[in-house]
Formats: sequence, structure tokens, C-alpha cells
Amino acid sequence: MRITIFGTGYVGLVTGACLAQSGNHVVCVDIDADKIARLTQGEIPIFEPGLEQIVHDNVASGRLRFTTDAAEAVAHGTLQFIAVGTPPDEDGSADLQYVLKVAETIGEHMADYRLVITKSTVPVGTADKVREALGKALADRGGSVEFDVASNPEFLKEGAAVEDFMKPDRVVVGVDSDRAAEHLRALYAPFNRQHDRTIVMDIRSAELTKYAANIVLATKISLMNELSQVADRVDADIEQVRRAIGADHRIGYHFIYPGCGFGGSCFPKDVRALAQTAGKLGYDTEIINAVERVNDRQKRVLFDKLKAHFGDLAGKTIAVWGLAFKPNTDDMREAPSCTLMEALWDAGATVRAFDPEAMKEARRIYGERDDLVFCKNGEDAADGADALVLVTEWHIFRTPDFVDLATRMKQAVLVDGRNIYKPSYVAQAGFTYYGIGRSAASGATSAFA
Ligand code: UDX
Repeated sequence: MRITIFGTGYVGLVTGACLAQSGNHVVCVDIDADKIARLTQGEIPIFEPGLEQIVHDNVASGRLRFTTDAAEAVAHGTLQFIAVGTPPDEDGSADLQYVLKVAETIGEHMADYRLVITKSTVPVGTADKVREALGKALADRGGSVEFDVASNPEFLKEGAAVEDFMKPDRVVVGVDSDRAAEHLRALYAPFNRQHDRTIVMDIRSAELTKYAANIVLATKISLMNELSQVADRVDADIEQVRRAIGADHRIGYHFIYPGCGFGGSCFPKDVRALAQTAGKLGYDTEIINAVERVNDRQKRVLFDKLKAHFGDLAGKTIAVWGLAFKPNTDDMREAPSCTLMEALWDAGATVRAFDPEAMKEARRIYGERDDLVFCKNGEDAADGADALVLVTEWHIFRTPDFVDLATRMKQAVLVDGRNIYKPSYVAQAGFTYYGIGRSAASGATSAFA
């Protein structure tokens, strides 16, 4: 099939590359000429495992092309995906100007049938606006070409996006015509494993499905984070609780890891956007608002634990392991590391940071400053530090030599923001250990943990 993708951001690029990999001819279009030039030369702007190879192979085979020429891009694909950004406005609603601009562009240039598919996460009702904007642009130039609109939300996890695209749990397709449904069924048929993974529904339900999925997941995390706060206060160990409740299939083990708050480009933004959508329609969401409030509070937990231990943090040096909002990405959007570092700086502390992929991004966000030292590895970050905080559970941080770390540090204090270490083991190396929901006084630090 001939496919066009508008937007070479995270979603557009992964979608374009993976669709080319399954044999389609894909043109990716973006207004950023510099980005297009670099992509054409095989330079990938984001860190995403497996993506560089697929882009490289498909550019080489001629199935994947990059362009800034919108007219050429509209002429190319029968299927036109809109995967441009929907940044939040001041009130948290998704800003649709870029999505609607693409719809207009398609209307201005299309010469025969086009199926226009929104891939970006967009509020319910956006497909109607896309239809309207495209129809108007088409009518303005006196055109009368047939077209369909559809919604096909993505469920890609950063760091596993290629894998998620190639082996989806499900493909959600929102349509209002058989013709559109058939095109999308055919497009995704190569990604079916064992059984048909495509779930066809009406457009509005598809649009809501994306938000619903993220909000259920974000709610699980905030609920566990809240329980971890209770565990801290009643001297229980949330990790033992987690293992026991996860065994109940109705709860399950996924997304019940307590931590230092969720970040990234999706959960925080989607939680706010759906609350806004409902609010504008006269429904005050209570659980969804609480999910956000609990998360904001949880992002402070690492700082609060340091503050409780040291009292005054002025002049202290804190080693921070992990800056990305989660492992296997260089993305720092809404990362708990930002909340921690900013609070530490306000309190007069210095940060010694290491992250395997996100240090360039941290430099871009914070620039050069005296109270932020970028280190060459985890051990280097720990040198002379008063405390070490594990913020992102990168694999490389899993089994450090705690005895060596204790000798490097000024004080052997560890705050484990993801509960990846065994408290008793760390204590043996001489560390004072603080986890999430496993207070120092709780059973977690006893010989049985
Ligand atoms: C998420 C959704 O998983 C994906 O389907 C959607 O398309 C986009 O949003 P992503 O933001 O890439 O993907 O990350 P994900 O792996 O889901 O993690 C989100 C956040 O939750 C991270 O900050 C992570 O650290 C946190 N998290 C996750 C927890 O704190 N506990 C958990 O148990 C799981």
C-alpha cells in the first residue's frame, strides 16, 4: 500500500518505519527541513531501540522516504496518517492547530480518494473537526473528491515502541464506513499473531479508548503510590503487599510498581486532557483529578525522604542515578528526576548526575550550571556524595558494588526510588536505606526482607 505520514516525531517515525518494514511504500513528511535532511541521511533524532536499523534498511530499499513537500506527500499515499504533535494548552486541553493544519493541507492538494487517519492522541470529536477542515479546504478550491476519516490511536511504549508496533496487543480502528475499515484491516493484517488483533469500532469510541487505556494504567500506579505512602506510615513493606495482591488475576502484576511518580509524554498529558474534556461537558471527574494530584505529590517523595534524613540540604551533594522518565529512553518530559533536582537546587544542594542516554537532554533543558555535574558513570556520580538516589531503574544500576560505593561516598545514604534493591543487602554494605513504602522502621529492613 502507499502510505503518507504527517509528522516525524516519535509516533510518526515509528509508524512510518514499521509500516515500511511490512512492505508498504511510505513517505514521511515534516515541516522541519533540518530534521528531514538528517533523517534522509539515517540520523534518528530520538533514542528508540531497533528504530535506527529499520529506518536505515527501509530507506536503503526505497520503501521509506522523507520529504518536506506536502503536495508530493498528499499525492503519494491513499492512506494519510496525521501524527503531528498535540501539545497541551494552558488549561491542559490538547492543542489541535497542527492536526487541523494537516487536514487542510490534504484538502488543498488531494486529487483522488484519500483515507485520513488520526494517529496522534486527540480529544474525542477531533475526527469530525478533521473532516470539516479538510472538506472546507477541498470546497474552497472547488474540488469534489471522496474521502474518509478514521481514528487509529497508538499504544506504543517508549523504549519498546518498535516491538509494540510489530506485535500489538490490539489495533484499534475507529471508522464510519466499510471502505475505511477494509483499508485499515488490510494494512494491519501482517501484524496479527495467532488471531485477528484489529478491533473495529465507531470513531468516537476509538478516540476515547486511547485515553481510557492510559487513565486506567495511570490510576493503577497512583493507587499503588498512595498505598506506599500508607505503608510508610504504618511500618509495612509495600513490596510484600504488591507481590501478594498481584497474585490475584483480577489485579495482576502489571503496572502496580510503586515508585517516584509517573512521567513521560502520555500519562500526565492524557490524564489532564480527559479531565478537561469532561469538565467542559459539565462533568467533574473526581478519580481522574485525584490520579494527577497523587502523582504530583509522589514526585516530591524522593526530596521529602532526603529532607527528613538530613534536615538541612544546603551544601549537600546528592548523586542522582537516572534522569529519563523511565529506562530505555532519553525522554525527560515530566520526569521525577526534574522535580527532585529542582527541589534540591532550591534547597542549596548540588547534584552529581548520571544517565546512560538522557544527559544530552538534561543539558538541553538545564544548560551548564554549577550545581549540576554530569558524570561519566554511576560510580563517578557517587564520588564524595552525601546520598545516592536511584530515580530511573536502568539495567546498569541493578547490581552495583555497594561496598565500593560506600567507600566513595561521604555518607552512605541510599534512596531507592523504584524499590529495586534488597534493603537488608544494602544495609550490610553499611548504607542507610530508604525505599518507597518500606520505611526504615518497617519489616523491610529486617533480616527477613
Ligand atoms: C504509555 C503507555 O504505556 C502507552 O500504551 C501509551 O501509548 C503511551 O503512554 P510510556 O509513557 O512510554 O507509555 O511509558 P510506560 O512504560 O507506560 O510508563 C509510564 C510511566 O509510569 C513511567 O514514568 C513509569 O516509570 C511509570 N510506571 C510504570 C510506574 O511508576 N509503575 C509501574 O508499575 C509502571
